[in-house]
Amino acid sequence: MKKILIKNIDKLFTVCNNSKLKKGLDMKKLPFIENAWIIINDDLIFDFGHMKDWKGIDNWNEFEIIDAENGTVLPSWCDSHSHIVFSGSREQEFVDKINGLSYEEIAKKGGGILNSSIAIKNTTEEELYQQSMIRIDEVIKGGTGAIEIKSGYGLETEQEVKMLKVIKRIKETSPITVKSTFLGAHAVPTRYKNDTDEYVRIVTDEMIPKIAKEELADYIDVFCDKGFFSVDQTEKILKAGLNYGLKGKIHANELAYSGGIQVGVKMGAISVDHLEFTSDNEINCLKESKTIPTLLPSTAFFLGLDYPPARKMIDSGLPIALASDYNPGSSPSGNIEFIFSLACIKLKMNPEEVINALTINGAHAMELQNEFGSIEKGKKANLIITKKIPSIACIPYSFGKSLINKVIIEGKLYNDCNTSN
Ligand code: NIG
Ligand code: FE
Repeated sequence: MKKILIKNIDKLFTVCNNSKLKKGLDMKKLPFIENAWIIINDDLIFDFGHMKDWKGIDNWNEFEIIDAENGTVLPSWCDSHSHIVFSGSREQEFVDKINGLSYEEIAKKGGGILNSSIAIKNTTEEELYQQSMIRIDEVIKGGTGAIEIKSGYGLETEQEVKMLKVIKRIKETSPITVKSTFLGAHAVPTRYKNDTDEYVRIVTDEMIPKIAKEELADYIDVFCDKGFFSVDQTEKILKAGLNYGLKGKIHANELAYSGGIQVGVKMGAISVDHLEFTSDNEINCLKESKTIPTLLPSTAFFLGLDYPPARKMIDSGLPIALASDYNPGSSPSGNIEFIFSLACIKLKMNPEEVINALTINGAHAMELQNEFGSIEKGKKANLIITKKIPSIACIPYSFGKSLINKVIIEGKLYNDCNTSN
């Protein structure tokens, strides 16, 4: 295979020599090289530098050239929280919300997650895979180079296994790296409405052992929130997962001060995600821990929730990862450039902080920081080449319009996303 030289790079972000999680003031640090080149060998970053250090090439025949046309190069997005495997859509509930129903009210009526679980049951594994791959293609074109995908619309052993098998097939066939999370405790199926502990027992005693045996998941998740799973139930499920080597990445504090952040920290979760309800207590708890707070601003946007206090969290010294939450109910989009805009506008994060949250910190939230999330020799050559832009602030500033010109996945040009906008 030929090496690839990317030339005419206006700015190359984020160059670093360690893959550390960015916290507090460090979240604003985004080292770059101006007027840069980068060489890719096979699927890895081989070398890069400033044009003044360019020593030339002996044998041009060994190289394929990609012209960055004075665009900016970034590591591809690391989307650490998604539900991209689902069937159909739920735009009727979207209309119900416009007409005044809340997310919780829709869920109580048997809509929401339960609605998607009926769709899963009526969809074959093959069909589910095909639908999901269309979304995978869409997010790759939007610059995503690694993604976590959750189950959670099966809600019975056979259907959860079906979803996880689809995720496994996506892992094997899509060009991007995928992490798989078992989310059996996403909602209580209607028939266990009056005996939620029995459903928890099925999750811990039937689903987890089967899924672990078939090696279908990397992580375990629970929706620890008002109207869904309690702190005690969450702890039980996380413990059961840990017994099989599945670490937690949990949904917490989206709808209330649920205690989800505290139980996530207590159980050594890799990340606690959502966090719309976060006060000083939760911030202090996170400060004592290695658990990564992950914010999903497109969900707060879509559901009209108050946004989490990202500024306060960063100013308290915490790290932040940002992710899409791509799902049919609360964030039917995996558009990371839009999340970039929301994080700047609604979370008051600086563009540099957002890039770190979407790259290296997102990689940490999937334990992929040694391969993804920054420009370092030996890391995966998953890159975004933007159009020519005056500064990276142009990306969130130009909301609703993609500034991505080309995407490189594992050293290969994925697609030319040049459009007329
Ligand atoms: O992350 N909050 C729980 N789960 C998803 C929503 C899933 C759905 O509504 O389908 C979320 O927002
Ligand atoms: Fe989610």
